Amino acid sequence: MTDVRIRDAETADLETITAIHNHAVLHTTAIWNEHEIDLADRVAWLADRTSRGYPVIVAVDGAGVLGYASYAQWRPHSGYRHTVEHSVYVLDGQHGRGIGTALMTALIERARTAGMHAMIAGIESGNAASITLHERLGFVEVGRMPQVGAKFGRWLDLSMMQLVLDDRPSPNPAA
Ligand SMILES: CC(C)(COP(=O)(O)OP(=O)(O)OC[C@H]1O[C@@H](n2cnc3c(N)ncnc32)[C@H](O)[C@@H]1OP(=O)(O)O)[C@@H](O)C(=O)NCCC(=O)NCCS
Repeated sequence: MTDVRIRDAETADLETITAIHNHAVLHTTAIWNEHEIDLADRVAWLADRTSRGYPVIVAVDGAGVLGYASYAQWRPHSGYRHTVEHSVYVLDGQHGRGIGTALMTALIERARTAGMHAMIAGIESGNAASITLHERLGFVEVGRMPQVGAKFGRWLDLSMMQLVLDDRPSPNPAA
């Protein structure tokens, strides 16, 4: 992990972010979608997240982007405004080096600073790397939904994992 740092994503990072996304589409059950995206899709995504005040962060070293993470409000109704759902992806070939942990540690800090109260991850139940990553960070499985997805000719189960970020007894009425 020497020389790896975490910073906000920039337009120049989006080519690698697109490649990481498309690798996950083609080869994994991390994304339940069979359709690759193009650079324009990620340009619009970054602009949308940024304009709404949500973070998109990257892990980088001297060679470029190693992974990224982001969150947005979990569900649209205003009552959910303190709860975000995130995603985290590390470049194939760079897994197991602590990059996912570094990205998530930074993202959790960003969520706390932004006044969020809960973070949600929807993870394919067989994704041991992601489930272990989240458990190590204090997330707990709060539900498992059997056979709600389909990819590669089989049903997929969804594990919902959650981290409560602080011990506020109730939300600030103004926030
Ligand atoms: C999930 C993912 C982000 C984890 O990132 P990473 O950089 O490889 O994770 P880290 O190196 O920080 O490891 C985190 C923990 O998970 C464990 N872990 C990593 N890979 C694992 C595996 N294949 N099986 C079980 N545990 C694993 C590590 O041992 C580590 O625990 P430790 O600190 O006790 O040793 C990465 O594997 C990835 O990008 N996968 C494809 C996309 C994906 O699944 N994203 C999540 C969608 S919900």
